[in-house]
Amino acid sequence: MALKIAFFDSHSYDETSFAATNADYGFDIQYYKEHLSLKTVPLAKGADVVCIFVNAECNAQVIDKLVEYGVKLIALRCAGFNNVDLKAAKGRIDVVHVPAYSPYAVAEYAVALMLSLNRKIYRAVNRTREGNFRLKGLLGFDMNGRTVGLIGMGKIAKVLIKILHGFGMRIMAYDLYPDHEFAKQYGVEVVDLNTLYANADIISLHCPLTPETKHIINAESIAKMKKGVMIINTGRGQLINTEDLIEGLRTHHIGSAGLDVYEEEKEYFYEDRSDNMIKDDVLARLLSAPNVVLTSHQAFFTEEALHNIATTTLNSVRELAEGKPYSHQVQG
Ligand code: NAI
Repeated sequence: MALKIAFFDSHSYDETSFAATNADYGFDIQYYKEHLSLKTVPLAKGADVVCIFVNAECNAQVIDKLVEYGVKLIALRCAGFNNVDLKAAKGRIDVVHVPAYSPYAVAEYAVALMLSLNRKIYRAVNRTREGNFRLKGLLGFDMNGRTVGLIGMGKIAKVLIKILHGFGMRIMAYDLYPDHEFAKQYGVEVVDLNTLYANADIISLHCPLTPETKHIINAESIAKMKKGVMIINTGRGQLINTEDLIEGLRTHHIGSAGLDVYEEEKEYFYEDRSDNMIKDDVLARLLSAPNVVLTSHQAFFTEEALHNIATTTLNSVRELAEGKPYSHQVQG
């Protein structure tokens, strides 16, 4: 009997890529539009595996239910696993993730945000559409010679470093466990956070969300940054205290922000809410800022990444079916 997978948070593009890849695996996949939460967890009854994404609420209560239903595996089809209570899962239900599906997708997207903000492409497009061909307000700067500071120097940041190195930027990075060999190769200055804040014209976040990194960008750290700094977040929303970011934008201490993630994204991201007013005041204020580009957690969204996500996830399910050790288990 083919293993049953309850696939939460499903969109047409997920279904297309998983259905195509599953032709080689033959699992029984049921697709559900809903996020996994205490309310929706009954949909997992009878499944062997739940497949979830970044906005699932996989807390202790949900895990209790999954264990009660006999679900054996939580398969995250993303890299981050901050939304799963690993303590509650430990020894009761296995958790796997997709550690890297395309570092290129996310790194290239971070560059897209930088260039869009720097050269005001998002504003220029709106203007020319309305027949306004003036340049006032569109002044940018050469990336060449400017300093970029990366917090986290893992897989994504390393791809980004290669690209920014090509631009001729001065590159600084802070990481708990820096790869000095790589840093040397690309002329990266491995620095402490205060040095990074004091020097960077652009700060880009590439560390995971952990208790130590939650709100790493806050009023205190912003005060240490250069006036006019650009902040890019393709990591996780909670790396930034959004109220403090907005205050920084309001006082012009922060020059611009490119955000692919947001602290409270669950209610909005991946949904069409265009028929209603945005009730989240913080999000509404961000969207009204002329120097903010905010997108809906799409940095990963390339053909290659979707293919890799489906293959890695279904391989994990195959490992469960064959009783083999997981290649990508998340340990609590
Ligand atoms: P990775 O695990 O290769 O690199 C993370 C780096 O952060 C490691 O070098 C680690 O030593 C460092 N680190 C850990 N704690 C730190 C701390 N307290 N301070 C400074 N550095 C610290 O991860 P990867 O693949 O580069 O991804 C980074 C993050 O990007 C993920 O955790 C995820 O949250 C996010 N992401 C976002 C996506 C999107 O679509 N927007 C897609 C994929 C990942």
